[in-house]
Amino acid sequence: MQDLNELSAVIAQIKQEITDGFATLESSKAVYEFKKLFMDSKSGKIGALMKEMKNIANESKAAFGKGVNDLKAWANEKFDELDAKLKEQEALARYENEKIDITMPAVKCKCGKLHPVTQVRNQLIDIFSSMGFEVFEGSEIETDFYNFTALNTPQDHPARDMQDTFYLSPEFLLRTQTSAGQIHVMEKQQPPIKILSPGKVFRSDDDATHSPMFTQMEGLVVDKNITLCDLKGMLDELVRKIFGEGTTTRLRPSYFPFTEPSVEVDVSCFECGGKGCRLCKGTGWIEVLGAGIVNRKVLANCNIDPDVYSGLAFGIGIERLAMLKYGINNIKLLYESDLRVLEQIDD
Ligand code: PHE
Repeated sequence: MQDLNELSAVIAQIKQEITDGFATLESSKAVYEFKKLFMDSKSGKIGALMKEMKNIANESKAAFGKGVNDLKAWANEKFDELDAKLKEQEALARYENEKIDITMPAVKCKCGKLHPVTQVRNQLIDIFSSMGFEVFEGSEIETDFYNFTALNTPQDHPARDMQDTFYLSPEFLLRTQTSAGQIHVMEKQQPPIKILSPGKVFRSDDDATHSPMFTQMEGLVVDKNITLCDLKGMLDELVRKIFGEGTTTRLRPSYFPFTEPSVEVDVSCFECGGKGCRLCKGTGWIEVLGAGIVNRKVLANCNIDPDVYSGLAFGIGIERLAMLKYGINNIKLLYESDLRVLEQIDD
């Protein structure tokens, strides 16, 4: 570059380039990159102008320097202006994007809860534990001996027909009743015995109120002078706690090979208070469980002297209690894991 005239032309050209370039810049980042092309002290076009100073005549150096510095100041101001404008636009766009709609209803947090069968099972365990019962969990696979023979139900006993059994082999089967646990406990322990045995049982039975797998809770008390009165007292307490004050039980004669006498236990209808309604089929009573005084032969089978000790036993169907308590009319609803049903059931 030779003189000031030429400088003026270059300055005018750079200003034009900057002004034209601005029209294309849409972000503060683009402004930064574009600015470098002119302002970078080493490679920028305005920075390069200063290096021309050495070619300028001495008397023109001051005017040349001022011309370049003025251009620099002008360009800086323009870049700052545009940068500030774009940054503001960017901030606004970000606020708009990240806006939170505080009027939106919150997503409800759903809490899991225990299955109704587990709820009733735990409730029974609580009630009987408070009477001094201890929990003994037997096994789901049993031998024919523990499930039947030791319970006074030998091979050809007609009572075997009461429970359609899943045999795994001639010796092993899926237990049909938690009563099998009675024998295990009495074999190991001399009286006093007071146990509760909850667990799954299996029978080839399938309709609205029966399922091939269901849950029972066995109770067994063996001590001196145990009578049906003890049984009735415990069961009265049980139904009051489960179905409410004012409910009571009645015992009806029945038959189980391992108890003598045997009873079927009814609870007074908690829906109508005994007057008769649809639930109790007009009778005022609902059958809830089987029970009895442990057969002398069963005690003797386990080396417990029936002349010294007597026992009571009861077997509660947990699904049956849950269905009555929560007004469920089909046992399958308890196993289908349909949340619309399960969510309605809670204590
Ligand atoms: N085990 C019997 C049943 O499953 C119920 C029961 C248990 C009856 C204990 C009397 C005593 O049907």
